[in-house]
Amino acid sequence: MTQIHWGILATGTIAKKFADTLSQLTDCGTMLAVASRSSASANSFAAEYNIPKAYGTYQDLVCDPEIDVIYIASPHSMHYAHARLCLENGKNVLCEKSFTVNAAQAAALTQLAKEKNLFIMEAFWTKFLPAYQLLNKTIADGAIGELTHFRAQYGFAPIGARYIRKLDPALAGGALLDIGVYAIGVAAMLLGYQPKQLYSSAIIGEYGTDTFNSIMLEYENNVTAHLITTIGSPIDAHAVLFGTAGHIILPGFSALQGFTVEKSDGTRYTVESPFEINGFEYQIRETVACLRAKKLESTIMSHQDTLAVMRLMDKARSDWRLVFPCEGTPA
Ligand SMILES: NC(=O)c1ccc[n+]([C@@H]2O[C@H](COP(=O)([O-])OP(=O)(O)OC[C@H]3O[C@@H](n4cnc5c(N)ncnc54)[C@H](OP(=O)(O)O)[C@@H]3O)[C@@H](O)[C@H]2O)c1
Repeated sequence: MTQIHWGILATGTIAKKFADTLSQLTDCGTMLAVASRSSASANSFAAEYNIPKAYGTYQDLVCDPEIDVIYIASPHSMHYAHARLCLENGKNVLCEKSFTVNAAQAAALTQLAKEKNLFIMEAFWTKFLPAYQLLNKTIADGAIGELTHFRAQYGFAPIGARYIRKLDPALAGGALLDIGVYAIGVAAMLLGYQPKQLYSSAIIGEYGTDTFNSIMLEYENNVTAHLITTIGSPIDAHAVLFGTAGHIILPGFSALQGFTVEKSDGTRYTVESPFEINGFEYQIRETVACLRAKKLESTIMSHQDTLAVMRLMDKARSDWRLVFPCEGTPA
């Protein structure tokens, strides 16, 4: 697959950011088609991003024989059905986070992709950011000694219809799947995907989903993480990684562009790593590299990594007895 033809499924906020990014990349294929539930929305999106084909149904997109890979940008509750639709019609998939609503759906999708010999990856863009490669090197070089604790907090306060949409149980809303996935995902990147224990609590709001959650992860050797995410309160995304010889401050940890090391001996320095475009370029390049290499799975964001985070989120929701209306046993 030398020339890669992308399709975009859904025309919301993040689909626009994705299209904007892809249109600035010269070596990552071309956007050939976009699909929306409405022809008007597909047409206007296609016009804005110079996309040759616009479809008024998602089904039409997956049936287009010229499309190689589809980026899914629909709400969480629909990722499973939309990814399945793509795979069953022979399309490779890059699917927005949270990958699915639960681990059973995620396992079913990755299994189906393997059976169909197709690539699928969660668009967990944070994991591809160069700043995290620099951070990993800093940790491995022993800048703060042995890791002991990770703390992360992130919240935002949408208003009006957006607030309701973000918390809507029918769309698998709530803080956990929307932004808690960043805190858990980064904790897993830094401390590991298999904590011994997860302890959690949440405030379930008027719409029946979590407006606030607090998650503690416990690893071997008493290494811990404490993660707080909320919808309804503006809390800057901020994290700190502690070690036996200092700590590292991660401002905007979900969209990391640099960090500050503060050692116990008083040494302090900042490492900058600005995005080339907006941060989405790295996950797009990884998808394209995998497709060109005929890989069915990214080694950076593996199926196991996605499944491990989904299982942790399942455990948290089971602590809160939070079940989404769309949940059921995958077919
Ligand atoms: N990576 C990131 O930085 C980032 C940031 C924000 C969101 N996200 C993720 O991206 C996904 C979409 O988020 P978003 O903020 O783009 O949402 P959004 O603005 O609400 O857009 C979602 C789109 O999904 C389609 N859709 C299909 N069925 C729908 C339904 N029943 N209700 C509403 N929309 C429906 C719609 O497109 P059509 O009308 O065209 O069919 C809609 O525009 C989520 O998984 C979210 O977690 C990622």
